Amino acid sequence: MPVVDRRTFLGLAASATLAGCATQKATGPAQGTSAFVSPGGPEVSAAEQARKPGRVRDFALTATANGLTWSYGGIVPGRELRVTAGEVVRARLDNRLPEATSIHWHGLALRNDADGVPGVTQEPIAAGAAHTYEFTAPHAGTYWFHPHSGTQFDRGLFGALVIEDPAEPLGYDQEWVVVLDDWLDADPDEALAELKKGMSGDHSMKHMLMGATSPLLGGDAGDVRYRDFRINGRTAADPQTFTAKPGTRVRIRLINAGGDTAFRVALDGHTMTLTHTDGFPLAHSETDALLIGMGERYDVLVTLKDGLFPLVALAEGKKAVARALVRTGSGRAPAPDFRPRALDGRVARYGKLRPAEHVRLPARQPDRTITLRLTGSMSRYDWAFNGKPYDPAVREPIAAGERVRLRFVNTTTMWHPVHLHGHTYAHADTGIRKDTSIVLPGMTLEADFDADNPGIWMVHCHNVYHQESGMMTLLGYRVQSGGSGSR
Ligand code: C2O
Ligand code: CU
Repeated sequence: MPVVDRRTFLGLAASATLAGCATQKATGPAQGTSAFVSPGGPEVSAAEQARKPGRVRDFALTATANGLTWSYGGIVPGRELRVTAGEVVRARLDNRLPEATSIHWHGLALRNDADGVPGVTQEPIAAGAAHTYEFTAPHAGTYWFHPHSGTQFDRGLFGALVIEDPAEPLGYDQEWVVVLDDWLDADPDEALAELKKGMSGDHSMKHMLMGATSPLLGGDAGDVRYRDFRINGRTAADPQTFTAKPGTRVRIRLINAGGDTAFRVALDGHTMTLTHTDGFPLAHSETDALLIGMGERYDVLVTLKDGLFPLVALAEGKKAVARALVRTGSGRAPAPDFRPRALDGRVARYGKLRPAEHVRLPARQPDRTITLRLTGSMSRYDWAFNGKPYDPAVREPIAAGERVRLRFVNTTTMWHPVHLHGHTYAHADTGIRKDTSIVLPGMTLEADFDADNPGIWMVHCHNVYHQESGMMTLLGYRVQSGGSGSR
């Protein structure tokens, strides 16, 4: 097992032993005096019951390794999972990988013990073992799943999870799920080990990417050199074709499953109507292109013209594209590296987006503000929050019922896609509801959420190399002492 894994798994194993006695660890002065809710505790069951679990839908997933490609069921992305909001997902995972794994259901406000963080919300699923996740799918929208074990998702372990709305308000004729990905063609643990040696010294620099810059990302665009970029597992030279009739109204569900790449996406010859981000509805707006960080999702509506149109995802700052083709009529595909002019048109920015009114959080002063300074540098490869690398035994305490504000202060010279588990926060300025947000260098993002889903929840950077080098932490709901309701 590579060194990196050993470090990770020792850390997790240590925390797994702690899980039962997290309260002890947490009684230190820095953590306050209250015990934390346990992931399988009564508060978690009560929150799940309140979701009124509906019909159970069974899924079987197998995690398999085939050389450098690890996947669900031998295909990348894995087969899409689709349920209706309110239904119960019961997904059995057979782990045929050579190491322990887990599945995290990204973006869902689900029961904490199904969140898939090994050593925190469950034991790692050992090689050769199986585990069944069972949870109510709470909100309609575009979600995805991937392991929360080391760098595994950068090997191809991911898939889309679509939660349909039983009363879908949008009108469209067809749907197209578009999963974006960066393909390393090497062992990501080896890449991480190289990155962690930093920029000094005379070690090999096979994987480190230098000089990738993007004005949209405020400078440095990424750390890792990928071999190519893919849409639904296919390269620009061998693209998937989506076929429909001219005039078809398509809902495109975009998911960035990349490890270290933001994509700028446009459909040649078309404008797009933005309808959702991270599963939650937006007030509709038109755009030529959008920027999507790792872990983010956007849904757009497009009315297709007549012809052949590339959907292009520019690997931002990395001088390469992924693409798929849309065919509604005759026409020849341009060269694989073709870039539609729309990529340089209006690019959707958070500041201009607004939430759909019915998903706006009611105005309220935060009861608690947690400041997370994003720290670290490329030269030391010491990405962290507040200068402290991840410690699974440390939890930022919060209490059920609070309005919590997360204040992400980016002190680094690089952008980071920050992600909160188990909740969909609201950007304090515009109110847009998200679970993963790009924080540009030197900028501060304030994200507010209502603490309504008890458990132990991760906050981390969704750059898998930053995450694994230490840019993660945990929020812990405190146990409310028997009805005293102390706040
Ligand atoms: Cu896709 Cu911890 O996240
Ligand atoms: Cu980061």
